[in-house]
Amino acid sequence: MPEIQAIIQKMTLEEKAALCTGASPWTTTPIEHLGVPEMLVSDGPHGVRRLPDVTTMAAQSLPATCFPTASCQAATWNGALVRELGQALGEECLALKVDVILGPSNNMKRTPLCGRNFEYYAEDPYLSGQMATNLINGVQSQGVGTSLKHYAANNQEYQRFSINAMLDERALREIYLPSFEAAVKNAQPWTVMCAYNKLNGSYCSEHHKLLTEILKDEWGFEGLVVSDWGAVHNRVKSLQAGLDLEMPGPKGTRVKAVVDAVHDGELDEAVLNESVRRILGIVFKANETPKGGEFDAAAHHALARKIAAEGMVLLKNDGLLPLQPSQHVAVIGRSAREPRFQGGGSSFINPTQVDVPFNELQKLAGQAELSYADGYPADSSLQQGLIDEAVAAARAAEVALLFIALPADIESEGYDRAGLNLTGQQVALIKAVSAAQPRTVVILNNGSAITMQEWIDGPAAVLEAWLPGQAGGGAIADILFGRVNPSGKLAETFPYKLSDTPARLNFPGESGVVRYGEGFFIGYRYYDAKEMPVLFPFGYGLSYTTFMYSNPKVSAETFKDVDGLSVSVDVTNTGKVAGKEIVQLYVHDHESGLVRPPKELKGFAKVDLQPGETKTVTIPLDFRAFAYYHPGHSQWITEDGQFDLLIGASATDMRCTQTVTLQSTLDLPSLLNPESTFREWLADPRGKVVLDPLIKQIITQMGKAMGSDQSVVAGMDMFGFLMDMPVLSVLHFQDSLLPVTPEKMVDDLLAQVSRP
Ligand code: BGC
Repeated sequence: MPEIQAIIQKMTLEEKAALCTGASPWTTTPIEHLGVPEMLVSDGPHGVRRLPDVTTMAAQSLPATCFPTASCQAATWNGALVRELGQALGEECLALKVDVILGPSNNMKRTPLCGRNFEYYAEDPYLSGQMATNLINGVQSQGVGTSLKHYAANNQEYQRFSINAMLDERALREIYLPSFEAAVKNAQPWTVMCAYNKLNGSYCSEHHKLLTEILKDEWGFEGLVVSDWGAVHNRVKSLQAGLDLEMPGPKGTRVKAVVDAVHDGELDEAVLNESVRRILGIVFKANETPKGGEFDAAAHHALARKIAAEGMVLLKNDGLLPLQPSQHVAVIGRSAREPRFQGGGSSFINPTQVDVPFNELQKLAGQAELSYADGYPADSSLQQGLIDEAVAAARAAEVALLFIALPADIESEGYDRAGLNLTGQQVALIKAVSAAQPRTVVILNNGSAITMQEWIDGPAAVLEAWLPGQAGGGAIADILFGRVNPSGKLAETFPYKLSDTPARLNFPGESGVVRYGEGFFIGYRYYDAKEMPVLFPFGYGLSYTTFMYSNPKVSAETFKDVDGLSVSVDVTNTGKVAGKEIVQLYVHDHESGLVRPPKELKGFAKVDLQPGETKTVTIPLDFRAFAYYHPGHSQWITEDGQFDLLIGASATDMRCTQTVTLQSTLDLPSLLNPESTFREWLADPRGKVVLDPLIKQIITQMGKAMGSDQSVVAGMDMFGFLMDMPVLSVLHFQDSLLPVTPEKMVDDLLAQVSRP
């Protein structure tokens, strides 16, 4: 690594400004005489979209493996496997001469309507953070960089370039930031990509608190911040906020604006130097790894198949699956022949090969004869003739395999979904086919939750196959024929209907603003709090075997927050085939100063078990597993008290509970202030000691001021009435009786509760 400070000293102002803006849509600006090479970035996140000509924004990219999209990856709940995927992506980057892949995408699934949810992992920040961390570690183990995106609160496509996402600090800190925080702290992505949208009034690209105070200062991010493509509005402001590299380039006007701003004294050159330092650090790091060679396309296709099969979620099975040998199988649905295996937009990969489900089924079906019917057209139109044909095919067979893919014009980057239903034709098709042939399996391809209430009772089995990448067809065949025992579980809730979903009343916003009115109650946190039933809960998925949980243990029943603890449980495969179970650990706080979700995922483990085998699963919990973000203290805090540790097979299927007692080691300052109410004073341990002796006197005098010496005055209980009034305001009603001004008196009280 060359001496970066020495290079910066030799750079002209123009060269510095140019380095902070791309030279092309996909490359940074080289400075040849100083030995600074260009760095080439390409889209991801689930494959490498390397354009042959880096001066173009969009064209067919070079062939690369299209791995399963993030929805499917997250449903594996298998960090090691996602890391393997990352390694494979890294290898492909090397072969395709890519220095940094633009992924993973790590935004929360705030609503299933977001058109880009297929690219995002989960509705839960812990799970998402784990997935992103593993993917980044995998890619970067190959000497290739990543770009953790889109930071932050980029949770919809509607007006994504400009929408102002208004959310409170706890929602931000507890839901929308932790997945980024975990990935930054545990994997140090080389770059973080800032989102297009505004956050609480400022473009993310100009958000100093987000880019500098939180990301760089608080979390210790060492890499560079890159803009999403076209997210910069004011280059000088964005540099001041901490946005190091603007993409795409070239943009002569931006370079000039930066140079002028330094000359005019508007931009401190030290700010520019800091961005230059960060960019050079990554550019030289990228340059250390030689590029070229080939990747093993066959091995990566096999890996893509393995991951796809592990991420598919068996939602329903009346015993029809795995399929037994049969004579005649009706394969219905256009996506059996023309698979929809990836989403549209910047992540669109030119695959090295594509498994066609029909062909893959044929390979595993032995002697069985497979018939085929389209079932539905390529668009969303209604064509009864196709349904009639499908019904006839289903009747003539012993089993119907019904492939249903949500059309690309409904779900993609760039636009959100209008509803959660399949198309009218698809719903009618499922109903008609499953009525004619009860032995029907529905195989779904979609990037996010859909509703099924209308038809779920019809088919014998339903497999959620997501947008599973180029090898998805083979993976589906593996599961249907029992070559792979399904072990995926949902990383997002499937609700009964759209109106049940948490962001329903606050999506997609209007007049340029979207208010996150549901706060941190997204996904299962919301359904739990509302006690609302859902079709399939977070963490749910069936297997061809069964698992028993027993012997739960905690490493300590009483523990200090800083020490954390660990939870263990024995899991036994009680069925007849080998299988994998995902054990989930949720934490429930008995009592807290501020509102908390009923429970939150804080750990999980995936365990592989032979029939009859038992393994002990141990899951560690640290300080953060018990903490919540306190906006008053501006930090994560813990409180003394009891917590339930819920060990479950899904968010609604708890198998064991352990109760533990936390001792907080925090010594927090009192938050009492001149506006604090009696209730707040009494809730504060130090405040209570100070106010208790005075409270009776104050209330009696207040009663007198109102012409009564009873506790009930004007039909109300004096004590109850006063509880939510500021002590200061009450004292003002009786100031003539006080030896000092009410302000002085409250100041004196506050002095007694402040720390020495
Ligand atoms: C997307 C990014 C992508 C970039 C470059 C943007 O529109 O939001 O995810 O990396 O384009 O293609």
